[in-house]
Amino acid sequence: MDAFMGSVEIQRLNAHGDQEPETFNAQRSTFNAQRSTPNAQRSTGRLMEDESAHPVAALFSASPGARARTSLDAMNRVALITGGSRGIGRGIALALARVGHDLVINYARNAEAAQKTAADCVALAGASGHSIRARPCPGDIADSAARQSLIDFTRTQCGRLDLLVNNAGVAPEVRADLLESGEASFDRVLGINVKGPLFLTQLAARWMIEQARSDAEARGPDAPASAPPRIVFISSISAYTASVNRGEYCVAKAALSMLTPLFAARLAEHGINVYEIRPGIIATDMTAPVRAKYDALIADGLTPIRRWGSPEDVGRAVAAIAEGAFPFSTGEVLNVDGGFHLRRL
Ligand SMILES: NC(=O)c1ccc[n+]([C@@H]2O[C@H](COP(=O)([O-])OP(=O)(O)OC[C@H]3O[C@@H](n4cnc5c(N)ncnc54)[C@H](OP(=O)(O)O)[C@@H]3O)[C@@H](O)[C@H]2O)c1
Repeated sequence: MDAFMGSVEIQRLNAHGDQEPETFNAQRSTFNAQRSTPNAQRSTGRLMEDESAHPVAALFSASPGARARTSLDAMNRVALITGGSRGIGRGIALALARVGHDLVINYARNAEAAQKTAADCVALAGASGHSIRARPCPGDIADSAARQSLIDFTRTQCGRLDLLVNNAGVAPEVRADLLESGEASFDRVLGINVKGPLFLTQLAARWMIEQARSDAEARGPDAPASAPPRIVFISSISAYTASVNRGEYCVAKAALSMLTPLFAARLAEHGINVYEIRPGIIATDMTAPVRAKYDALIADGLTPIRRWGSPEDVGRAVAAIAEGAFPFSTGEVLNVDGGFHLRRL
């Protein structure tokens, strides 16, 4: 099956948003030049009628290294977004679709939302001149077997991983005072918001290291290096702001913030940059129950930029990272918070 089928891909998902058994580009990592399709052609989502006129035909007289390089360069980069079905994760998926990434859209339960996001991503990419694949994949990131399945799914379906966005996260089910909150909520919030991203990143990083090696071998010693893989953590202003009625969430986000320097320090030698995005008050399902409270606080000047943030605001920041806007920065924090973090007098 052709590697670049655009919106057709989404029609092959079953009712639960799972992929059908057919692979959609497991051969990518073999750099098969015959399968590569130049950008202009990919943007139409169609194969040229006269294959002999195909610019890729010139490759068959080129060296194996040149063929591999061209094939590698012609491939869409692949992003895995946890919690990509709704809210901020959806905003990130759309922003990455706009710049031509293939997407694995993880979610916990809401298959319908995940499928809609995938379809919207394919459509938006098409309108932006790209042909992408977007694959929903269910899985609770707090669960070890589910994390492994998510990586396996990405490997089988996309053949590579260029960007991991650790976005999935939950608030406590009940906002309980610090003197009353219980261990069950602590375990749930820490499991999803910290343990999940930590061990998913461990799996992804091992694969990215192996992939960077095989990319370099395929390109050959004299070729310019391919764009390196990257990792993003979506933390929160709660990493440093005390909210005494959801302490476990603040503890979790503070811990998540430490994952950025840890992985940045560990992975720099492999050319993998790691970033943290710290959103402020963003309009999503998570904040819907406290909408009125934050409307009033924002109107009162809580944030220098007096508006709610949007998932698109966060998506734009992730897309900048994905596009390689910060090659000499790692372990960096981007505040996407309307200036909430500024100390003011
Ligand atoms: N909204 C804000 O103001 C704000 C501010 C700062 C930071 N953040 C952080 O940004 C991230 C996204 O927040 P949001 O506001 O977009 O939340 P949201 O609207 O509630 O969406 C949460 C997303 O995470 C998924 N998810 C939940 N539990 C999961 C699990 N165990 N495994 C895999 N996926 C799971 C959900 O999947 P389903 O659709 O299947 O449920 C959904 O896609 C979170 O880490 C949050 O802490 C949010």
